[in-house]
Amino acid sequence: MKYALRTIIVIAVLIVAFFIFLESGVYNVSAMVPHNRLTLWVINTLKDNSIEHRSKALKAPNNLIDSSLIKLGFSHYNEMCVGCHGAPGISKSEIGKGLYPHPPNLAHSAKEMPPSELFWITKNGIKLTGMPAFGKTHSDDKIWAIVAFMEQLPTMTKEQYQAFDRDTKDVNDE
Ligand code: HEC
Repeated sequence: MKYALRTIIVIAVLIVAFFIFLESGVYNVSAMVPHNRLTLWVINTLKDNSIEHRSKALKAPNNLIDSSLIKLGFSHYNEMCVGCHGAPGISKSEIGKGLYPHPPNLAHSAKEMPPSELFWITKNGIKLTGMPAFGKTHSDDKIWAIVAFMEQLPTMTKEQYQAFDRDTKDVNDE
């Protein structure tokens, strides 16, 4: 009985302390200061497991190496992603540089993540990070085209990226 009472008191004190912490303003939400390790661990564990769980049933189309799909993906990437994530030979914009968490280099992400996760993130975005949901404005087909382009990033040079830019300009000028 005594043990149960002590447990209840400890839990009540912890809950009160947690609310005092929330109300106090002691935690720094500035995007200039990184999270502490515990907060980072909680956020990353929540995020990684959520993305893995929600994307595992998705099946990538088997035409991700189709050159016209990759080209279509480039035009969307160049318009919507490059400012935050940069590209071969292009650094992030001032907005991209100021965001926290930092928008990662997608050449690394494409090496580490399966296409299904790249698709899920591009379609759904990630809460409280600045990563927008493109599923509100873009069809699944267009998002798969962006994924097809991202799959090329790990081996893409600055010259190849510029060549895509010239190619799509030629098409738009025609
Ligand atoms: C306004 C800035 C912004 C724009 C525009 C943006 N992103 Fe992001 N993106 C982010 C941020 C910030 C993160 C990091 C989120 C995190 O760490 O949880 C991110 C994360 C990602 C990730 C996860 C990468 C990883 O290794 O965890 C992918 C994939 C991604 N973005 C794809 C895209 C694509 C594709 C586009 C364009 C269609 C795009 N993003 C446009 C800000 C942006």
